[in-house]
Amino acid sequence: MCGIIGYCGHRPAVSVLVEGLRRLEYRGYDSAGVAFLQHNGLEVVRAAGKLHALEEKLAELNVYQATSGIGHTRWATHGLPTERNAHPHCDPERRLALIHNGIFENYQELRDELAAEGAQFLSETDTEVFTHLLARELKKEKSFKKAFSSALSRVEGAYALVVVSLDHPGTLFAARKSSPLVMGVGEGENFLASDIPAFLPYTRDVVFLEDGEMVQIDAHSWSVFDVATLAPVSKKTTHISWDLQAAEKGGYKHFMLKEIFEQPRVISDCMTGRVDASTKKVLLPELDDIPVPENLFIVACGTSFHAGLWGMYLLESWSKIPTRVEIASEFRYRNPILHKGDAVLVISQSGETADTLAAIRLARECGAYVIGLCNVVGSSIARESDCVVYTQAGPEISVASTKAMCSQLVALTLVALSYAEKKGTLDEKERQQLLQSLAEIPNRLENALPSMRTYAQMLARMYSEARSFMFLGRGLSYPLALEGALKLKEISYIHAEGHAAGEMKHGPIALIDPKFPTFALAPCDELYPKVKSNLVEVQARGGKIIALTHQGSDLVVDNAWEIPSTKGPLDTFFMLPALQLFAYEMADYLGKDVDQPRNLAKSVTVE
Ligand code: M6R
Repeated sequence: MCGIIGYCGHRPAVSVLVEGLRRLEYRGYDSAGVAFLQHNGLEVVRAAGKLHALEEKLAELNVYQATSGIGHTRWATHGLPTERNAHPHCDPERRLALIHNGIFENYQELRDELAAEGAQFLSETDTEVFTHLLARELKKEKSFKKAFSSALSRVEGAYALVVVSLDHPGTLFAARKSSPLVMGVGEGENFLASDIPAFLPYTRDVVFLEDGEMVQIDAHSWSVFDVATLAPVSKKTTHISWDLQAAEKGGYKHFMLKEIFEQPRVISDCMTGRVDASTKKVLLPELDDIPVPENLFIVACGTSFHAGLWGMYLLESWSKIPTRVEIASEFRYRNPILHKGDAVLVISQSGETADTLAAIRLARECGAYVIGLCNVVGSSIARESDCVVYTQAGPEISVASTKAMCSQLVALTLVALSYAEKKGTLDEKERQQLLQSLAEIPNRLENALPSMRTYAQMLARMYSEARSFMFLGRGLSYPLALEGALKLKEISYIHAEGHAAGEMKHGPIALIDPKFPTFALAPCDELYPKVKSNLVEVQARGGKIIALTHQGSDLVVDNAWEIPSTKGPLDTFFMLPALQLFAYEMADYLGKDVDQPRNLAKSVTVE
C-alpha cells in the first residue's frame, strides 16, 4: 500500500507533490511527507495523520523554490503511524531521501548486518534500512545507478522506490518490483507515481514500468534500464483517455456516493462494443486467445471475491463450466491441482492486489491459462494475464468498492453468456432476453437510485443504534449478503455477518435477539419461499428484519424495501446498489470517514 509521487519540472514541486498525494490518499493515509532540494540543501517535512497535518507544517515554511522532489502517503506495515516512521527516510549523512511502497521482507537481517557495522536507525521501518544500504553502496561506487542496482540486489520483497539525492539535483531515480509505479511524461516536466490520478492535471501520457526496471527522470528527459544489468529498456508511451473530472467528486458529498450513482453509466460502459447489434451475440475477442476452459478457478480478494462467487452461479448454470471460487491468499499457499486446459480467472479492481498477483504467477507456473478481469488499464494483473477483460468502470477512488463490483458483475455476465454461446448451453431465446434486460438496466437504475437513497436514509436513522447486523441471502443473493455485510462493516464499523440463509439455523441464529437486526435479500424468485421460512425463524427469536424484495411479495417484516425487478439473476443490479446505499447512509449518519475508513487502503499491495 502507500502512495508515492516524484516530480521534476518547472512548477513549485511541493504544491505538485501535495496535490498528487491528495489523489493518492486512498492508498494510505496515516502519515505523509515530502523531500525536496532547496537552497543547496535537502529538506524533509513529515507529519503523522492525514495530509492536512503535513500541509499545516508546510504552510509555515517557504517551499516555493524547489522544482523537484518526492512525496509519500503511508499505510503502516512496519512501525506505528508516527512522524518518525513517516516517509521520506534519509541516509545517515542526509545526502539522499527516499520513499517506498512495499515491504522488504529480509529487512531484519539487513538491519542486523548494518547495525553490526555501526548503523543507527531513527525509525522502526523496513524502508530506512534501504537508505543505509544505498549510502553504503554509494561510498564504494560513484555511479548512482550502479550503486542503486547493487543495493536493490540485496533486498527481498516488494518495492516501488523513488530517491532524491543532493549529488544529483533535479534528477530522480526509481525502481519497481511487485508494487505499482507509473511515469507521467509532460512538457518540461516528468512524474513518477503509484497511480495515474496523481499527475492527471498535468499529463495523460503515461509509461507503465515493469518489475525489474529502474528509471531516471529529470525535467526534460527520462530513461529506463534493467535493474540488474543497467541495459537500456525501450518503452512506449500510452495516452490515457479518462480525464481529471472522472477522478473528482463532481458535487457529491463523498466519492462513494458518486460512484454508487455512476453505476448506470458503468453498466453501459462495460457493455459498450460488446454486444453485436444485429446478431445479438456477445463480442469478447479478448477471450478468443485461449480455449474455452474445461474447469475454471475464480480467484480474488474482498469485494472482487464476492463478485467471483456470484459469477460462479452463471458460469455453471449458463456455460456449464465447473467453477470454483477461492480467496487469493488461500489459493496461493495450498498447492491447487490445476490440469492442462484449466483456466484461472482473476478478478481485481486495482490490478495490483499482492495475493491475486501471486495467484496468477502460481497458475502460470502450473500451466493454466489466466484470464484477468480488471479495471485499471496497464496494471500488473492486467499485464501478467494471458488475456484481459477490462471492466471499464473508470477510476474508483472511495476505498469501499461499489461501481467496480457492478462492472465486474456485468463483465462476468458477458463472459458467461459468451462461453454459453460457444458451447451452445443456453437456450437462444433466453440468452437474447437476458441481453435485452441487461441493456435496459442503466435507464431503470438511473430512475430508481434517488428513491432508493431516500429509503436507505430512512433505514439508517431507524437502525442507527444497532451494533450488529446479520445479512442473509440464498443462491445469487448469498454473495450479495456477504458484500452487504462487508460494505457495512468497512465504512460504519458496525459488526456485520453475511450468511447463506439456509445456514443460519446451523449456528448464527444463536446471535439473534431484538437488538441484532437482520438484513435479508428476498427477491421474488424460485428461492423466495425458502428465504421467507428462514425469516420466520428470525422473527420467532424476536429479531427485527429489513427485507430487500419486490412488489407483490407477501413478507410481513419490519421494513419490506421494494426495489425494481428484472430478469432473474439480473435483479442483482438493483439489489447491490441498495446494499451499498444502506451502508453509505449508515456510515454518513454516524459521522464516519466514508471514503477513507480507518485501517483500510484501496490497493492492497502487501500480502
Ligand atoms: O483491487 P482489488 O479488487 O483486487 O481489491 C480487492 C479488495 O482489497 C477490495 O475489494 C476490498 O475488499 C475493498 N475494500 C472492498 O470494498
